[in-house]
Amino acid sequence: MGWDTYNAYGLAYNETTIRDNADRLVSLGFRDLGYDVVIFDDAMTERDRSANGSLVENQEKFPSGLHALSDELHALSLKYGVYSSAGRFTCGSYPGSLGYEQQDARWWADLGADYLKYDNCFNEGQAGTQKLSYDRYGAMANALNATGRNITYSLCNWGDDKVWEWGCTISNSARMSGDSNSFDQPSNGCPCDADEFYCQKFPGYQCSVLNILGKASYIAGRSGPGFWIDLDMLEVGNGGMTTAEYRTHFTMWSAIKSPLIMGNKLYDLSPEDYAILTNPAVIALNQDPGGSAIARRFVQQVDTKDRWGVGEIQVWQGSLWQGDQVVVFLNAANETQGLDVPLWRIFGTPGNELSLRSWDMYDLWAENVTMLADVARQVLNGTLELGPKTQGYYNASRISWREGLAANDTRLLGSFEGTVEAGGTVSAEVGAHDVKAWRFRLVGKNRLQKKDEL
Ligand code: GAL
Repeated sequence: MGWDTYNAYGLAYNETTIRDNADRLVSLGFRDLGYDVVIFDDAMTERDRSANGSLVENQEKFPSGLHALSDELHALSLKYGVYSSAGRFTCGSYPGSLGYEQQDARWWADLGADYLKYDNCFNEGQAGTQKLSYDRYGAMANALNATGRNITYSLCNWGDDKVWEWGCTISNSARMSGDSNSFDQPSNGCPCDADEFYCQKFPGYQCSVLNILGKASYIAGRSGPGFWIDLDMLEVGNGGMTTAEYRTHFTMWSAIKSPLIMGNKLYDLSPEDYAILTNPAVIALNQDPGGSAIARRFVQQVDTKDRWGVGEIQVWQGSLWQGDQVVVFLNAANETQGLDVPLWRIFGTPGNELSLRSWDMYDLWAENVTMLADVARQVLNGTLELGPKTQGYYNASRISWREGLAANDTRLLGSFEGTVEAGGTVSAEVGAHDVKAWRFRLVGKNRLQKKDEL
């Protein structure tokens, strides 16, 4: 989890941008939720290398020097993330690292870098087979390892050459799609034919949340501890989607266990967006010790299409730590839908063992689970300091997600909504472009047992 400059600033950021946002990561409690990597995404150096081939710091943007900034981040218990491309240039036409892997890895390690996002622009045609991509990205893996510094390695090859099939052997995460920017708007830059497996002709750009979810439904199961499929940075807070759409975007990214990298202006957040990004019950899905991604169980077309002709409902389900389950109803149509879904369809097959149990359902977006608007407003304007008792807030630096879940911390479970009996049906109304998301827990697990029952 972390924060990245690109979605909100493009290449136009400098040390003030970094400091302002880093301060907010701390004061708004994001760091203590786990958002602790600060990624300088592209445009960190001069346009040319020095005579000996070294990268050169951009002094105009970072007059204090990158080393000092890295130290400042570390002093705040934040991590320093850098960026380059496995190509001749980065996507912003700064020097790329192809052929300079060892030299650049050493340079970043000396600066105290903790994370590398490694892009795919200007790759000199060294793509098109898994061997070509693997070798190109593997060269940087070797170079990072040779530095002896612990640097999280995040591939950004947009899913080229089915990176989810080989990325786990050399990296910690891999982008599986082009950049996202809308909820549902189809884009020529990111084509998707219904009959095409994985929905990908070329990696693309301007991919919608729904397009990315469609692709992720095929491959999310490749994620696991040590290697996470990255659905792209979060757009929450950038203004291009409704609150319901941001809620859906954030829920799905969390439950699929994508890295949660914010890409917004942290000093310009609305209370609604702040409450989404800090929802402890949803982040608990992302940070679940079980480490399994949610799976799409079915998609059903409905009549009420939106202006792009998109109109469907989707049901997703996944396994959580210690037998809990996560269930999401997603309404991608533009009118509220009433859904009645039998347990066997939620769990995948008729007679499925899990569908023959009774479940307590905890709503992950109930009022009170997230920060109420009033509380969020006060924290944002500095009149309320976050503390252990702040409504809707969870500090995972104090009590880890695992400890909190083991202790049945109600902030992580969600709000009890009711019970679905064995073989029963879950019914819910889901607003347009919104989700209904629950943690399911076996009936009885949470109830206190009397002494003679023990
Ligand atoms: C793109 C990449 C973005 C961002 C950008 C920087 O290729 O997908 O996430 O890193 O380059 O120029």
